[in-house]
Amino acid sequence: MDDPDDPTQGISPAQSEASGRVCVIGAGSSGIAAAKALHERGIDFDCFEKSDRVGGNWVFENNNGMSAAYRDLFINTSRPRMEYSDFPMPSHYPDFPHHTQIAAYFEEYVDHFGFRDRIEFETGVQHVSRADDGVWTVELDTGESRAYGALLVANGHHWLPRWPEPAFPGSDTFSGQQLHAHSYIDNSIFEGKSVVVLGMGNSAMDIAVESSYVAESTYLAARQGVWIVPKYIFGKPVDQMNNDPRVPFKIRQRFMQQLLKLYAGAPERHGLPKPNHRFGEAHPTVSGRILDRIQHGTIAPKPNIAALEGSQVHFEDGSAVDADVVVYCTGYQISFPFFEENFISAPENHIELFRRVFHPDIPGVFFIGLLQPLGAIMPLAEAQGAWVGDYLQGDYALPSDAEIRADIAADQAAMRARYVASKRHTIQVDYEDYLYTLAKERQAGAQRARIDGYRPPALCRPSAATTAS
Ligand SMILES: Cc1cc2nc3c(=O)[nH]c(=O)nc-3n(C[C@H](O)[C@H](O)[C@H](O)COP(=O)(O)OP(=O)(O)OC[C@H]3O[C@@H](n4cnc5c(N)ncnc54)[C@H](O)[C@@H]3O)c2cc1C
Ligand SMILES: NC(=O)c1ccc[n+]([C@@H]2O[C@H](COP(=O)([O-])OP(=O)(O)OC[C@H]3O[C@@H](n4cnc5c(N)ncnc54)[C@H](OP(=O)(O)O)[C@@H]3O)[C@@H](O)[C@H]2O)c1
Repeated sequence: MDDPDDPTQGISPAQSEASGRVCVIGAGSSGIAAAKALHERGIDFDCFEKSDRVGGNWVFENNNGMSAAYRDLFINTSRPRMEYSDFPMPSHYPDFPHHTQIAAYFEEYVDHFGFRDRIEFETGVQHVSRADDGVWTVELDTGESRAYGALLVANGHHWLPRWPEPAFPGSDTFSGQQLHAHSYIDNSIFEGKSVVVLGMGNSAMDIAVESSYVAESTYLAARQGVWIVPKYIFGKPVDQMNNDPRVPFKIRQRFMQQLLKLYAGAPERHGLPKPNHRFGEAHPTVSGRILDRIQHGTIAPKPNIAALEGSQVHFEDGSAVDADVVVYCTGYQISFPFFEENFISAPENHIELFRRVFHPDIPGVFFIGLLQPLGAIMPLAEAQGAWVGDYLQGDYALPSDAEIRADIAADQAAMRARYVASKRHTIQVDYEDYLYTLAKERQAGAQRARIDGYRPPALCRPSAATTAS
């Protein structure tokens, strides 16, 4: 006889076999945080990783061909901000460690929590589909296919370059070198040259500064201004300043903007474009060095590129310079190449998810690390992994469909109202606010899950094999 309390009742044989098994795509800092959450809950999972090691973007010259790290890349979110909550970075690390230290830290994390054997290295996920019964079929580049009850997507969002759209007139016949920041390795390519760097994000800051030490001339071109945040204020990394999410954002914003003006003066004082927004309305550009290099005369600010012609770069103010190299620091595209585009995609970097994790229409798929915080990604990915782990275990229940949709709509409206319109401002969150509201949501969902009659999703449950020990 049917047992009405049996959550597996009514599921297909394929679903039954797949349930209890979870697939994690990617073992970068987001994938490993999620994998650890599954591991400690005894949920059976496979994590597939294209590379021969963990760490994703933080592995310089990663053999997955996807890392944007350059030889002299250092984090710009400070160590305490970036480390996972239960695994501090070594105390001898500086405030802003080098990429080699960050990559080593991720390796140590996996070994410390003991789930390396759950990661299948040099195994790319090529195609993923979902059958009507909810079973996910994951096709690997080894030729193998496997079935899963749930899918965690942690494939990163800083590996597919976004080139200027449309391309600048004359870029197809420009005589110099053109590259995207993603393929930048070190400043040896700039030695003795005339270099134009385009963009006002963190890649543009770092690359213009690196160029300024060896190039004959470096121009920093921008289509709009940003607030430049130094790495330190009052002797402390700036992201360690008190930023209580219970204080209204407008008050925090006014305080920070005043502080930045007092510290360094308005950006236009340094020849940069005047920001058309207030602090906190664009992804922060953090640089302790760019203003110095501009004020030492080694970087010349310019407006946006208008066209390229022969060996010349023309700017929107009518000026032109001879250039040997143009570096497009124009950002990245969000992409899930393993999904059919009409199933799940992010056109123009746009994707609507409940708190950046749960898909409102497709059960059983969860996105980890798909956000741009004012702060580091790792602790947020860790919280997301724990949240999904609770859900899969039956310890968290989602709000109603209507509430989820209203939450997404409110979040999208707030993001549109606050941020400068740009393809780089589609998945923004505030670090403290996100952690705070997610913790509250997890509590609310835990209460809902304790209500009599809550039937957890039949996506997966700890398998006998993993719970036995
Ligand atoms: C130059 C640069 C500097 C940055 N600095 C900071 C910083 O200081 N602080 C900060 O918080 N953030 C920073 N970021 C943001 C960056 O996205 C995060 O630091 C971090 O790398 C995100 O981790 P992730 O795991 O989500 O993605 P990734 O690091 O990109 O890892 C994704 C992993 O998924 C794997 N993968 C992808 N597709 C597949 C597939 N189909 N099959 C199998 N495996 C797959 C990849 O091989 C990779 O290992 C920076 C980004 C860039 C580009
Ligand atoms: N040291 C570090 O830790 C470090 C270093 C580099 C990068 N990062 C991180 O890596 C991520 C990506 O940063 P990013 O700087 O590469 O990209 P980004 O933040 O997306 O910035 C892209 C920049 O290019 C501009 N842009 C885009 N298209 C353009 C066009 N057609 N013409 C003119 N300008 C254009 C954007 O202007 P609009 O604002 O007008 O769109 C923006 O200024 C961020 O999370 C960043 O924090 C960190």
